[in-house]
Amino acid sequence: MSGVYPESSSKLSFLIIHGPNLNLLGVREPGIYGSVTLESINRLLVEKAESFGVDLSVIQSNHEGVLVDAIQNSLGKHQGIIINAAAYTHTSVAIRDALSAVKIPTVEVHLSNIYQREIFRHHSYIAPIAVGQISGFGANSYLLGLEALYQHLTQ
Ligand code: DQA
Repeated sequence: MSGVYPESSSKLSFLIIHGPNLNLLGVREPGIYGSVTLESINRLLVEKAESFGVDLSVIQSNHEGVLVDAIQNSLGKHQGIIINAAAYTHTSVAIRDALSAVKIPTVEVHLSNIYQREIFRHHSYIAPIAVGQISGFGANSYLLGLEALYQHLTQ
């Protein structure tokens, strides 16, 4: 059979997950997180995803359960997840378990270098089950994460 199967010709779709307090980017501790807003990060991500031919969905929530629901609802919809779980990175077994359950390849990103900061930020529940982690490049962490995930899934 020489036909192209629908699976091989359909577009990749990624979900970007922003955790708590990231809605305040731009005003929140600019010395640590920079002055870029979440809206402009999302705009840059959509542009980059378009250049790869990838569909992008974006969610931000301050609520752990909403993030767990978004991860569960990704099954069958998204082939990759880029997550900045923010403070939940360091506390949430529920978010890690949701990612393990759906088994969707995930890249963890952080604006700041979490290893240069307080000890409690050095541990990530997500890192051991992620494809990889990008930390410390400001807004660019997200764009590098998107590119890394795209290459991971296509090469
Ligand atoms: C963060 C780092 C976390 O430790 C912190 O709780 C955040 C943002 C980052 O992007 O640098 O809210 O994930």
